[in-house]
Amino acid sequence: MPSSWKSLLVCLLSGRATLALQSQNDTFNSTFRLTAQQISTANLSAATTHNVEVALQYERSNNAGSLVQNEPFYIVPDHYNLNDLPPPGTILKVEAHTNLTLYTIPNSLSLSRFLYVSESYNGTSLPASLRLHPLAPLYPVVALAHGTSGQTQACAPSGLRNLWDHFNEPFPLALQGYAVVTPDYAGLGVPNVTSPYFVFPAQANDLFHAVAAAQSEWPSLLSREFVVAGQSQGGGVAWAAAQRQYSRPVKGYLGTMAASPFTDALAAIAADSGIENNGRVSGIAQGLASVLPGFQMSDWLTTLGVARWNLIHEIHGCGTTSGQLAAAESGALPILKEGWNETWSADWFRKATMNGGKPFAGPMLVIQGTEDGNANEPTTSRSINQTCELFPESQLQYIRFENITHVPVLLAGQHTWLGWNHDRFAGVAVPEGCTQQTLSPPRGINGAASAGWSSATWFVEYNLYGI
Ligand SMILES: *[C@@H]1O[C@H](CO)[C@@H](O)[C@H](O)[C@H]1NC(C)=O
Ligand SMILES: *[C@@H]1O[C@H](CO)[C@@H](O)[C@H](O)[C@H]1NC(C)=O
Ligand SMILES: *[C@@H]1O[C@H](CO)[C@@H](O)[C@H](O)[C@H]1NC(C)=O
Ligand SMILES: *[C@@H]1O[C@H](CO)[C@@H](O)[C@H](O)[C@H]1NC(C)=O
Ligand SMILES: *[C@@H]1O[C@H](CO)[C@@H](O)[C@H](O)[C@H]1NC(C)=O
Ligand SMILES: *[C@@H]1O[C@H](CO)[C@@H](O)[C@H](O)[C@H]1NC(C)=O
Ligand SMILES: *[C@@H]1O[C@H](CO)[C@@H](O)[C@H](O)[C@H]1NC(C)=O
Ligand SMILES: *[C@@H]1O[C@H](CO)[C@@H](O)[C@H](O)[C@H]1NC(C)=O
Ligand SMILES: *[C@@H]1O[C@H](CO)[C@@H](O)[C@H](O)[C@H]1NC(C)=O
Repeated sequence: MPSSWKSLLVCLLSGRATLALQSQNDTFNSTFRLTAQQISTANLSAATTHNVEVALQYERSNNAGSLVQNEPFYIVPDHYNLNDLPPPGTILKVEAHTNLTLYTIPNSLSLSRFLYVSESYNGTSLPASLRLHPLAPLYPVVALAHGTSGQTQACAPSGLRNLWDHFNEPFPLALQGYAVVTPDYAGLGVPNVTSPYFVFPAQANDLFHAVAAAQSEWPSLLSREFVVAGQSQGGGVAWAAAQRQYSRPVKGYLGTMAASPFTDALAAIAADSGIENNGRVSGIAQGLASVLPGFQMSDWLTTLGVARWNLIHEIHGCGTTSGQLAAAESGALPILKEGWNETWSADWFRKATMNGGKPFAGPMLVIQGTEDGNANEPTTSRSINQTCELFPESQLQYIRFENITHVPVLLAGQHTWLGWNHDRFAGVAVPEGCTQQTLSPPRGINGAASAGWSSATWFVEYNLYGI
């Protein structure tokens, strides 16, 4: 061993002995405080005030370093005119090697982030995006549509320690050798863009233009071919991408994997009486005006609902916070106006975002848990059946996982969907026609996978100690 190694070793050991370990909080006692004005304007009870403060602090603890809204990375460079941007797919800014010290990403992976031009439902917008890749020569690309992280600028997965979907989606893909191109949906990340939440065709635009932008920046690293994938909201986006691909084909497309996808979102919402729907519907209402001229939040939301969303935007809250502000207390204090679902705008939304019953570019694999309380199984099955009846030549493979809920279907089906992905790049042919299959857990199911909507009894925590 060269002597320099010895001294380095000694140095490390002595350094270790004197290093005082800091305690690492594993709870989220909040130092964030709402103002009296915010509490009264949004009519918050003492209990809700407490919950919002804890929820917001928890969300902030998930950021890799500074908060997204304070990170200069997300600001579009000055020399671009926001009202006259280059065409969709153009790169605006690149961070080739993101400092991963404050992320909780598997050690063998690296991350690049970039801003690019996307296309809104009817124009042009500016999301941030990230790309994640392993150490390998040429990466087959997976365009990954993320699940719901929230609706405000603060909720960009690229700024979160675990990239939001962590071991459910991006990590296993990247660890298997794929380059994961996964955009923050427009409105998340870059300031002053409204997020058209659940308007799947808009987010499908984000996905395709992110792939084009990444391929233009790293032509020798990324394959031209790509598979589309996503779960939950991302499953809805993935299915919408397959429909877009039918009418606007993009070269290199190999197929789509949609897990617990939202298809007929309003039907799924109607079938789910849970209070979480208040959060979902009001989350849609906060962004709909950005794609639907003439719509106002107050068309669907009560005065209280509007006040709550103004507060969510003001404090840069994401899903956990909006869960407290827009979903809870629903009975006593309505957030949604009665009849919101029978307005002209609800009708527009339903038609504009509908997946299923339309032609799409296959092959497509859909995986669905039978106990899914969000994108529920009967709604997904109906969309599958409609599609297969109208387009029997569809290359559509549908697999139901018995006893499995919304997010755990990615884990129950991991072997299946990763294998399916592999087959697309290997050129395995898929016959025309629809197939349906139900898989059951041979030894029953761990209660954690069948109870609740996401059912995780764990999350990836930051480790200060290095061991
Ligand atoms: C840990 O929690 C305490 C009490 O809430 C707080 O004062 C402190 O800032 C937290 N430390 C970190 C590193 O978050
Ligand atoms: C958080 O608050 C609870 C109750 O006030 C207390 O028991 C706990 O020790 C606190 N945790 C931290 C990390 O400060
Ligand atoms: C505010 O909340 C209280 C209950 O906490 C309720 O009685 C009152 O009607 C609410 N006011 C408005 C304007 O929603
Ligand atoms: C990465 O970030 C950490 C934590 O903020 C910092 O200590 C380190 O110097 C950074 N590394 C580089 C290469 O910038
Ligand atoms: C965002 O909009 C606000 C208010 O309209 C403005 O003050 C701010 O400069 C804008 N930020 C950026 C980065 O454009
Ligand atoms: C396009 O969307 C913008 C907002 O993003 C809206 O102001 C405009 O009215 C829309 N145009 C059309 C033709 O719908
Ligand atoms: C709207 O919701 C109400 C109450 O849940 C329901 O009775 C009605 O059928 C719904 N209307 C439509 C068009 O879905
Ligand atoms: C869909 O079709 C399958 C097989 O054709 C049938 O068993 C099932 O009941 C249908 N489901 C719905 C919701 O229509
Ligand atoms: C799993 O689903 C099957 C079919 O719906 C049902 O008979 C069984 O009771 C379920 N098992 C558990 C552990 O939930």
